[in-house]
Amino acid sequence: MSGEVRVGVLVSGRGSNLDALCRAAADPGYPGRVVLVISNRRDAMALEVAGRWGVPAEAMPVSRYSHDDRARDRAMGERFREAGVALVVCAGYNRVLTEPFLEAYPDAILNVHPSLLPAFGGGMHAVEEALEYGVKISGCTVQLLEPGVPDGGPIILQRAVPVREDDDAASLLERIHEQEWLAVPEAVRLWCEGRIRRDGRVVRIAATPEEGS
Ligand code: GRF
Repeated sequence: MSGEVRVGVLVSGRGSNLDALCRAAADPGYPGRVVLVISNRRDAMALEVAGRWGVPAEAMPVSRYSHDDRARDRAMGERFREAGVALVVCAGYNRVLTEPFLEAYPDAILNVHPSLLPAFGGGMHAVEEALEYGVKISGCTVQLLEPGVPDGGPIILQRAVPVREDDDAASLLERIHEQEWLAVPEAVRLWCEGRIRRDGRVVRIAATPEEGS
């Protein structure tokens, strides 16, 4: 893919992954540019993070759409399309996206999850669950979102985080976050460079853009 890819980001919370992505994209050599941030929550700190980077940001709470997730998701898809967004990144978005949105962006929605999928997918307490299970290695996953099982999409990349004897959920999450801040900009870069090649549910990373097309 040539030129700069227009990236949209969906958020709900603190926005540390958004911050990491905006920092990476500030490099003139980075192949993507964050052009619009949408939050489902008006009070998401991530909206302020977007403001600090000069990125337009808006809240689209489901209450504005008669609490109809599909109607809100359709409107979000249209909003991103209007903004010329080619790639959407869910960076701490806490709702399951419905078909009208997923179908508007096939193979073009990335999601970051704080576990090594398929372990501890599908929920909001992956770090606590991993500790309760007693895993020795945790980490984060960036995957493509598609209709079907939440957190069941093709995996683009994963980064491992060893669990320490004295870890609690907060300390482990902190180290997982540090890996997410590397993984998200890296996955976005690969996508923008056209290096992600899907073979069924297996993603292969092409060495060059030409190989990936
Ligand atoms: C991240 O841990 C991500 O894996 C999960 O939500 C968290 C978002 O953090 N989906 P932030 O809002 O980017 O700080």
